[in-house]
Order: sequence, then structure tokens, then C-alpha cells
Amino acid sequence: MSIKAVVFDAYGTLFDVYAIGALAEQLYPGQGAAISVLWRDKQIDYTRLITMSDPHRPEGSRHYQSFWELTRLALDYTLARFKLDAKPDNIAALMGQYAKLTPFPENLGVLQRLKERGITTAILSNGSPEMLNTAVTHAGMSELIDHIISVDPLRLFKTSPEAYGLVQHTIPVKAEEILFVSSNGWDALGATWFGFTTLWVNRQQLPFETIGPKPTHTGHDLTRVLDVLTH
Ligand code: LAC
Repeated sequence: MSIKAVVFDAYGTLFDVYAIGALAEQLYPGQGAAISVLWRDKQIDYTRLITMSDPHRPEGSRHYQSFWELTRLALDYTLARFKLDAKPDNIAALMGQYAKLTPFPENLGVLQRLKERGITTAILSNGSPEMLNTAVTHAGMSELIDHIISVDPLRLFKTSPEAYGLVQHTIPVKAEEILFVSSNGWDALGATWFGFTTLWVNRQQLPFETIGPKPTHTGHDLTRVLDVLTH
């Protein structure tokens, strides 16, 4: 099996969505970790509600709102759920940090190695184009990612097969020649169902989803990409 391109999920895989917990903790002492977890869960929950609730395709879901808007709405929900004061300054600070999430420490080095080896690299993300561009630029990855592919024009989110199918519009190779890398178990499963060769980066020592096939490969951090390509 020859891998022709490595395609990364963005949030949770390249960018640390739970790093925001430190700022949330400053703003809402004692609640930072809980905020970051519920915020993430709600954000993903909303993408699924929107994608599943309107089968009217190919125009996408009538209920579509961009991932940036959903991130904001999920934050509103989270603060309301914990009965916290949704001060405009706090919201602005949290959203501002979300736009520039910290990348995981090993990521830049792995992307540099891939470039040295001439491997095509891409992101496939639920994120809207503007937020992805900001995050990639802020993380210093602009020169290292060949294609930033957002589901936004489709108006559907992962794990719809149409979303994974966007990759081959940009990189026209067979599905199994794509190594799709995600830290999100559900995303690794969706991509495996779609037919990609997959690597689940299990950063949090979690069990894999129990409802489907295992990903092709598993690792603890992004450096595993380099091993997978070597063997
Ligand atoms: C992404 C989120 C879902 O697609 O992790 O980047």
C-alpha cells in the first residue's frame, strides 16, 4: 500500500482544543476543565444535528451554520448550562483564544519531516475556512500544509461521506492511498468507514469506538505518522 498524501483533522489533532481550559479556569475558577469538555462536546453535537436533520442534498443542510458560529453557540450553551455569567469580555477572550489554539508540541516537526520527504499534506476539517487559515498561520504551518479543505462549501459536516469525499476532489488518488489522521475516535471511525487508510492518534489513552472497524493504525502522538509511512 503506497500512501500518496497525509490528511489531518484540525481541532484536537493539530490544535489542542482543551488548552482553552486554562483561560476558562482563570475566567471561571474551578470550572475550566468542565467548560472545555462540554464546549467541545456541544460543538460536535451541533454539527451532527445539522448534518442529520436535513437530507436535502447536494445543497447541504438548510440548518447549516458555520463551525465558527457553532463554536460560539456551543460556548453560550456551556455557560448557560453551568449557570455562569456570559460576560461579553469573557466570550470575546475565549473565542479569541479559540481562533489561535495552541498546536501540540510535536506537530510542527512532523509536518516538516513530511515536507522534506515530498509527501502531500492537507487538512480536512469541519472548521470554516477563515478560522482554519487563522489557526494554521498562527501555528506557523502555512508553508507545511499544501491544502486546507473545509467542509463549509458542502454545508454538511463530518462524518457525512460527502465531507470525506472532498479530499479526493483536491487530491485525486484512491481513498486507501490517503492516510487520514485524527485524534477524534469518531472521526477516525468515519474515515475508516469511508475507505481511507486511517491513523487514530489516541492522545488521551481512550478506548476506541466500539461500533465499527478499528482504524488501520493507532499511536499516542503525531510522530506515529512517520512510522506508518516508513513501514
Ligand atoms: C475538525 C474537528 C471536528 O474537523 O475536529 O477539525
